[in-house]
Amino acid sequence: MIIAIDGPAAAGKGTLARRLAAHFNLPFLDTGLLYRATGRRVLDEGGNPADPATAEAAARALAALDTQRHDLRGPEADLAASQVASIPGVRAALLDFQRGFARSHGAVLDGRDIGTVIFPDADVKLYVTASPEARGLRRWRELRARAVVADLDVVTAEIRTRDAADEARSAAPLIAAADAITIDTTELDADAVFALALQQIGEKIAEKPGRVTHVATPSAGLT
Ligand code: DC
Repeated sequence: MIIAIDGPAAAGKGTLARRLAAHFNLPFLDTGLLYRATGRRVLDEGGNPADPATAEAAARALAALDTQRHDLRGPEADLAASQVASIPGVRAALLDFQRGFARSHGAVLDGRDIGTVIFPDADVKLYVTASPEARGLRRWRELRARAVVADLDVVTAEIRTRDAADEARSAAPLIAAADAITIDTTELDADAVFALALQQIGEKIAEKPGRVTHVATPSAGLT
């Protein structure tokens, strides 16, 4: 089974994706890390993340260990990731890895173009979103939990800017797939989002007999 989860920054995709992966015993890939690690490699070499040739070379040279670095979050990494992500050559370089990741055991992947470009035939596509204010607040709380001092308005403005760039780019823009189920998490906590997603997945899979035979109830994964 392949579950594709797309949506804007700080909407709750990662939390949901991890819980679904654990629940269905599927591998999980946070595809944003691939773009973050690519941007970081370019910065390390003193290059410009907006330069297509430099960014594509960094994407092609990416190693699994790069995605485990501890400096992939924060304003500089956010911006570099968004810049490299708008370059078609970078996206092409990272495509095979993402497809290969799910080849043997299926997977839950979260990103921006999983249901539209990477796995247009995914068994389930979720589009997870929330108001910019709610997302700004969540990101700000995450930063505060890591003892990073930040201004809520600035954090929210940065999220809006990055969303706009992700939506406006010509290469694989952020958009809900036509057959995606949209989950608005503005008013929901992580448990409610998880329960809603399981319910939606159950209904979706029931429409596709033969693809997946077992979907557990929400409580089964929460122990
Ligand atoms: O999900 P994230 O914030 O870690 O993503 C970092 C950047 O990479 C963000 O600007 C969106 C971009 N991205 C993308 O274009 N496609 C993906 N599949 C995942 C992330």
